[in-house]
Amino acid sequence: MEAVPSVYVTRLIPKAGLDLLRGCAQVKVWEGELPPSREVLLQELEEAEGVLSLLTDTIDAELMDAAPRLRAVSNYAIGYDNIDVQAATERGIMVCHTPGVLTDTTADFTFTLLACVARRVVEAAQYVREGRWKTWGPMLCLGYDLHRATLGLIGLGRIGGAMAKRATGFEMRVLYHDLQRQPIQEQELGLVYADLDTVLRESDFISLHTPLTPETFHMIGAEQFKTMKNTAMLVNTSRGQVVDQKALYDALVSGEISGAGIDVTDPEPMDHDDPLLELDNCVVVPHIASASIAARTLMATMAAENLVAALQGRMPRNPVNPEVLDLKGRR
Ligand code: GLV
Ligand code: GLV
Repeated sequence: MEAVPSVYVTRLIPKAGLDLLRGCAQVKVWEGELPPSREVLLQELEEAEGVLSLLTDTIDAELMDAAPRLRAVSNYAIGYDNIDVQAATERGIMVCHTPGVLTDTTADFTFTLLACVARRVVEAAQYVREGRWKTWGPMLCLGYDLHRATLGLIGLGRIGGAMAKRATGFEMRVLYHDLQRQPIQEQELGLVYADLDTVLRESDFISLHTPLTPETFHMIGAEQFKTMKNTAMLVNTSRGQVVDQKALYDALVSGEISGAGIDVTDPEPMDHDDPLLELDNCVVVPHIASASIAARTLMATMAAENLVAALQGRMPRNPVNPEVLDLKGRR
């Protein structure tokens, strides 16, 4: 009989995932509200064969070298820019993530954020709370219509595609840019493929759905804001570093664009004295796009199943570097 593998979980995740892990592994959980420190991670991974990590944990080559028994890293997220995947592959460590289960939840939220910014919901609620609501006003809190506006999607993967679907209900014209064209979705949803400049120039709302990679780092900066309409609004539920945040501030203050809703920031958490937080036309929320009870539970079981499969030498359902197992030969 094989020994029960030891697994480290870097935060409390929904119980369904922990229960699943406990059935197959010896599990240790970091129960702090904040992520484990680097020192804690280095120490805890000394003996661990598997780690269930969060996007707040940096899993790099140094950490892997301090974890000689580590065979699998299962990220509780769709994004995995917190993990050095190449270093993992070189060390025969399987990396997994949680795509699919959070697609609709994240798209729902992104649309919510879009609507909040377009119709000034946060600002308006604040106005009421501050006791400033005196009467119904013809000019009070005027915003922009979503319906029949042009939505520009940068990145048309799962979440971008789910945004496009929602946009059809609002009769929006949808432009998209991606490295890959998606002819089926173009046809089914009436999407229009365009180069990045055209998407930026023609869209009323721009929503980012790319992973963070060296190519997408600061993909939206001063030049891109200049290209956008002065009435344009940006929403970002991907990764903070896809946007040059200083340039975003300047664009919002100078009127180069008219609003932004960001669920992701650079750094995270955002400093509480960040100047963006002083702007009425910017809504900042704490990286919660996938935060529905249902999605987070599914993410927990998916991350746990992936980890167990990888530790048992089976191909997990959601590998990032499946070649690790192919190289070793499947058992
Ligand atoms: C959240 O940002 C995720 O990548 O799942
Ligand atoms: C607004 O409430 C209206 O009735 O027009």
